[in-house]
Amino acid sequence: MSQRLVVVGSQWGDEGKGKITDYFACRADMVVRYQGGNNAGHTVMFDGHKYSLQSIPSGIFNPATVNVMGNGMVVNPVSVIAELQKLHDQGLTDYQLFISDRAAMVMPWHSDLDGAYENMKGGKQIGTTKKGIGPAYCDKYSRIGLRMGDLLDPEYFAERLRAAMDVKNMELRMLGLETYDFDKVYDTYMEIASVLGSRICDTSALINEYLVMPDKKILFEGAQGMMLCIDHGTYPFVTSSSPSAASVPVGAGISPKWIDNVVGVAKAYCTRVGEGPFPTELHDHIAEEIRERGHEYGTVTGRPRRVGWFDAVVARYTSRLAGIDNWALMLFDVLSGLDKVKICTNYELDGKIIDNPPATIAMLARCKPVYIELEGWKEDISDVKDFNDLPEAAKAYVRKVEEVTGVKVGIISVGPDRKQTIIIDEKLREF
Ligand code: IMP
Repeated sequence: MSQRLVVVGSQWGDEGKGKITDYFACRADMVVRYQGGNNAGHTVMFDGHKYSLQSIPSGIFNPATVNVMGNGMVVNPVSVIAELQKLHDQGLTDYQLFISDRAAMVMPWHSDLDGAYENMKGGKQIGTTKKGIGPAYCDKYSRIGLRMGDLLDPEYFAERLRAAMDVKNMELRMLGLETYDFDKVYDTYMEIASVLGSRICDTSALINEYLVMPDKKILFEGAQGMMLCIDHGTYPFVTSSSPSAASVPVGAGISPKWIDNVVGVAKAYCTRVGEGPFPTELHDHIAEEIRERGHEYGTVTGRPRRVGWFDAVVARYTSRLAGIDNWALMLFDVLSGLDKVKICTNYELDGKIIDNPPATIAMLARCKPVYIELEGWKEDISDVKDFNDLPEAAKAYVRKVEEVTGVKVGIISVGPDRKQTIIIDEKLREF
């Protein structure tokens, strides 16, 4: 039986992790986010209501589930309070949420700097969410960052804040941006401490308490996708953390030995927001059809997403890196109605057929997708509950995905609602 499940985005983010995490969160005792921050945008739909989450774990809707924002995250406490307020306004008042005292804090100057760095890149912008995620991780690694636990000790916080602001105000001044006043920032964050303080704790200890208890089900919720990974993604068009299951031990504070199942969430096609090469990108009417049917607009920024065919080169690469046991194949219903559907099996780079994505975006931009074409299906599959009830062509598509990626499809999503989920893998059914 699977007890510690990791859900990892295996493309460029927005694969539908929110829905899958929510599906398992209903039965999970604990849901843990281990990287990223409020650059993520998870949409969860149930009972006809739509909720969107940025930094709060998807288990928040189940009062019995303990939600943890792990030390590997960059936490913007102002945004956490706003997210909680929005959930309160939607009637959600009964939840459990804890934030790691070791998590790096996103400060107001981080989003200013995110925007300024983007503007300086001229036409070569990364297309960040401008939430300050990159600058916050930079400060963490430069060791001038503030951490959530600092808020619990006002004197220590003042000392750390002063040291950080000396550097940051200098940087802001050099860039011609507004600087910040120490007293104002200090007072604001002491107010924040009074709102969030009781939720800030040693979450590694909390998670490990659950790990040693038999029968506790723990879900580790990745944000973004493997192709946005700082190490393995399409650098520099990536985010500043690694969404891989390999980041769970560090970002949650647990031993790697605990993880026993990894679900790779992949759309039945591909999308990408922001800039950067995207080998299977479509620019024709099919892209328009998929974009409209799949509502492919960014949850955080509202930007239209770029759309392309399923890329098995990317899928094999991300399954190798993140140890994916099963795919959750998302938005499968969106492909219904197309005459033909394509899967990219390899790339052609400078006349050679290759199996893996190259390291540089210059080379990736030269990669041409090699496709296999399959028959499409016309039937509406959004009410299908069992794999065997799918049209033959749809089943053939799923089998082909398994064949060219070497990973079984464990879940198929045929609509946004929790109920529109086909669970194929027995281990996942037991979670
Ligand atoms: P950042 O994470 O805001 O620094 O943005 C870096 C890149 O990652 C940009 O291309 C963003 O559009 C992308 N990105 C960040 N978070 C997400 C996400 O949750 N879904 C999809 N793309 C994301």
